Amino acid sequence: MIRKQQMEIDNYEKVAVTPRFCYFKPKVMTNSTMAQEIAFSLSQKKKFISSKFFYDDVGSETFEKICDLPEYYLTRTEFEILDEIKSDLSEYLADNFALVELGSGSSVKTRKLLEILTCKQKDVEYYPVDISDILKDSSINLHDEYENLKITGIIDNYETGLEFIRTLDHTKKLVAFLGSSMGNFSPKEGMEFLEKIHESMSVGDMLLLGLDLVKDVKILESAYNDSSGITADFNCNLLLRLNKEFGANFDLTKFKHVAVFNKKHRRIEMYLKSLTKQHVFMPVIDLFLKFKKDELIHTEYSHKYTTSQIKKMTKRTGFRLVHMWNDKKNYFTMALFAVEK
Ligand code: TRP
Repeated sequence: MIRKQQMEIDNYEKVAVTPRFCYFKPKVMTNSTMAQEIAFSLSQKKKFISSKFFYDDVGSETFEKICDLPEYYLTRTEFEILDEIKSDLSEYLADNFALVELGSGSSVKTRKLLEILTCKQKDVEYYPVDISDILKDSSINLHDEYENLKITGIIDNYETGLEFIRTLDHTKKLVAFLGSSMGNFSPKEGMEFLEKIHESMSVGDMLLLGLDLVKDVKILESAYNDSSGITADFNCNLLLRLNKEFGANFDLTKFKHVAVFNKKHRRIEMYLKSLTKQHVFMPVIDLFLKFKKDELIHTEYSHKYTTSQIKKMTKRTGFRLVHMWNDKKNYFTMALFAVEK
């Protein structure tokens, strides 16, 4: 079934939860890699923390709350588009397809795709890939909801997910990359990542990409500066995590969440701003940090696209754009791509 599986998953522990649900997780604790990355990124002239560290248990839970915020239109809009296009999409998925989802999170939007596939196929294989342990709970929920669903989860980064995609050569694949997650890459990195996705797919496979579109600055900025402060909590949780895991002494009252739209680069930029001149120590990794007043730690980019930019970009990656669907307000777009010879 999964060719080359043994070779590729040697470093992974396979946990069989039920006959229809198993997941793979790296055997080695990723803590030491995280320590190294943090020691590097916080020692740079322009300090940064990789956004993949947002998603510990607390972070993943907080992110779910973000998705429900009135200001955070992205999840809701994407969900609406998916609901609207179900029958359109179904026509493009005439054959049997396995679903691969990069960054599956809570798998809420996945249901829209599974509704299509589980209806017309006897069995459906679903391969969620997510950095967070949230994958276990969301998979169990889906498992209980759809009797003809078989789930193989990969709790790791996208790259590992792509390795898995390569090994699935028995059936056609629909790869879903939703939630404007591609916007968290720079456009150049995003394009390179699309190329990698393309390389790991076969002729006849399809890619469904959800991207946030450029719009009024006020709408964009309030999506990342919600009035209840949940996005601020999400951002600040990075520092709490460093306190918890590396014994750091970040004082949360001395850092502030900042999210601004950079028009030139068409992106929301997220930072943690030091409100005073201060020192922070992380004993576990023996890291001593100095902060100037107003110094920023960069934590995330969220690039916004225009439809013409998406068309241009994807042409260069080898995909053929099949269709694009926007919501009525043109806030968000779903783009379907085909892999051709
Ligand atoms: N990809 C989504 C976005 O850019 C979700 C996301 C990633 C996010 N990091 C975030 C949302 C930080 C809020 C804050 O919007």
